[in-house]
Amino acid sequence: VFKKLRNKFLMLNMVITSLVILAAFGVIYATTYTNMYKEKLRKLNNIVPVPMAKTDNLADAPSNSVQGEQNIVKSKPPMLNSSLAFLIRTDFDGTVLLIDSFVEMPDQIYYDAASYALQHGKQSTVKLADRYWMYSVTQTPEKLTNADNSSREVYYRIAFLDITDSQKTLQDLRVTFLAVSFILLVVIYYISRFYSNRSIKPIMEVWENQRQFIADASHELKTPLSIITANYDALLANQNETIISQMEWLDYMKIGTERMDKLINDLLALAKMENVSIMVDKAPFNISEIVINLMATMEAVLREKEITLTHSVEQNIMINSDCNMVTQLFTILYDNAIKYSDTNGSIDVTLKKSKNSITCQVKNSGKGIAPQDIPKIFDRFYRADSSRTGENSGYGLGLSIAKTIVKRLGGEIAVESKENGWTIFTFKLKDML
Ligand SMILES: Nc1ncnc2c1ncn2[C@@H]1O[C@H](COP(=O)(O)OP(=O)(O)O)[C@@H](O)[C@H]1O
Ligand SMILES: [Mg+2]
Repeated sequence: VFKKLRNKFLMLNMVITSLVILAAFGVIYATTYTNMYKEKLRKLNNIVPVPMAKTDNLADAPSNSVQGEQNIVKSKPPMLNSSLAFLIRTDFDGTVLLIDSFVEMPDQIYYDAASYALQHGKQSTVKLADRYWMYSVTQTPEKLTNADNSSREVYYRIAFLDITDSQKTLQDLRVTFLAVSFILLVVIYYISRFYSNRSIKPIMEVWENQRQFIADASHELKTPLSIITANYDALLANQNETIISQMEWLDYMKIGTERMDKLINDLLALAKMENVSIMVDKAPFNISEIVINLMATMEAVLREKEITLTHSVEQNIMINSDCNMVTQLFTILYDNAIKYSDTNGSIDVTLKKSKNSITCQVKNSGKGIAPQDIPKIFDRFYRADSSRTGENSGYGLGLSIAKTIVKRLGGEIAVESKENGWTIFTFKLKDML
């Protein structure tokens, strides 16, 4: 999904870049072209016939051209502005009468040039003798007097100018543009791919996390559901019995629903904590009191497991924070301490304030946490001891909720453990006083 999206963005990026490059080069090209064209046009219009006096009368020269029998005047004036050009004058029917040429070319080419120009519009370009020519046809009726005093009617005046060089310049420009665009596009492609890959990575991670979370949650929900279904089936098989005699199945069903209830509550808590649009509800309250009261409510469980509780809680610390979240945070750690401490173990709770923060530490004796598990215990659904999937085991969501709470309140949570010794969870809330 994300790869597709990324490729779409990449495509869009490339198309836009290409258009920009094209537009920029287009403008440069058009400007160059227009300037060259104007310059050539000016030159073209400046091609003037050399004075008649200088022309050689080639009429008597033997000619192998088609129009050889006619009286053609061909002159070879000096170069004009260092560019190659020629001027052909024809009569109304297009018969070549006069050629003023600054170029040395076979006669046939002049005839071809004239007929091409007269057939194809007033002004255009043509390829002749491996060179590009720009020409313009003008109608300038005039009477020419030959050396022998006979006169001829000139009707068309066709000027040709060699534009091979500018044509070549333009072509070079096009080739350069193509090469530069290509290199630019390749470079931009790799750069944007690199950056889009980098920007898409965190999104992909979040997405993968979320997917994993849903899979885990569904999996965890299945267990209590199957307990309920199995016991319901057992009840159905004994339809004629009294309810009281079937209490065993009903109790299992109750355990199933309770487990489901706990899981759903955990999931909701997590969802709520992670929802950044739900604001932290800050108000001043006495955290010492909360901690003391919570420990008091759990006394029965402590006695049952014969756990010794010691504590040093600094009295009457007032903090400005979200009371519900802090309560939940402490409950999670304290619950775990009870749950994971061995029978006849001990728990020690300390709460103290320093300059700008409060620190709470919950220590319990017991199996501890293996070093390789420590980085993972804050992950959702992670339980270090997989053999412990009995009724009272949790879902591995407690510590991830705790971590989210600490993150939202602005603080730190850390764990220290000695295997087969003790475990200490410490959280620190900053700027709370
Ligand atoms: N006080 C503790 N002592 C030893 N291990 C602990 C303690 N607290 C948490 N753990 C380990 O971290 C895991 C994750 O804890 P938690 O997120 O609260 O999930 P659970 O629902 O299993 O209690 C637990 O399965 C346990 O292995
Ligand atoms: Mg727990």
